[in-house]
Amino acid sequence: MIELAPSILSADFAHLAENVQAVVEGGATLLHVDVMDGHFVPNITIGPPVVASLRKATTLPLDVHLMIENPDLYIPAFVDAGADWISVHQEACVHLHRTLEHIRGQGVNAGVVINPATPVQTLEDVLNMADHVLIMSVNPGFGGQKFIPHSLEKVRKLVRMRAAHNANFRIEIDGGIGDDTIADAVRAGVEVLVSGNAVFGHGNPRDNSQRLLKLATEATLQKV
Ligand code: DX5
Ligand code: ZN
Repeated sequence: MIELAPSILSADFAHLAENVQAVVEGGATLLHVDVMDGHFVPNITIGPPVVASLRKATTLPLDVHLMIENPDLYIPAFVDAGADWISVHQEACVHLHRTLEHIRGQGVNAGVVINPATPVQTLEDVLNMADHVLIMSVNPGFGGQKFIPHSLEKVRKLVRMRAAHNANFRIEIDGGIGDDTIADAVRAGVEVLVSGNAVFGHGNPRDNSQRLLKLATEATLQKV
């Protein structure tokens, strides 16, 4: 099933609940929450209190993308705040196996993320421990960046690895997903589409979500 996960990074933080309501009306079934610490990435965003407020404002599952150093230290706080999915960067985890076990042990979905420069092969030994694998299609830190086309090759490789390993994680993509890139991502094998700027950056978030989902769904029919 194809899902759109609007990234609240580009939302209006003073009107977050209304923005979330709009994307729900537009068909979004997941909410992507970008957590940045100013160390792992050169930007600072939000932490557990905002996740806890979102938890009260919506029943949508919260997909928390941790772009932070030492994620193990903060995973329990995000679980308590109401995260449903927690993703950690391969590049930020010295003991990735342990961290994924740690996340799953708390009863939430565990995801692993790789930056544009990190090969998908580095995930080979943890593929069976992930509920989702997130391919970054921009360098993390900011919304509104340009999609890196090579990411699609990584998605296709991951699809082949999943089959070879009999694994069943879902494939998610994050960065530069909009009207001009969403269909290519779906055709490459992406199932969960994160989109920030294209949803919240201009126009109406409800109409934008609807249009992006339509493009994504149409592209599933063109998959070869
Ligand atoms: C970037 C974040 C993304 C970001 C995507 O570091 O992880 O989730 O919000 O935004 P767009 O869709 O604008 O590239
Ligand atoms: Zn993200």
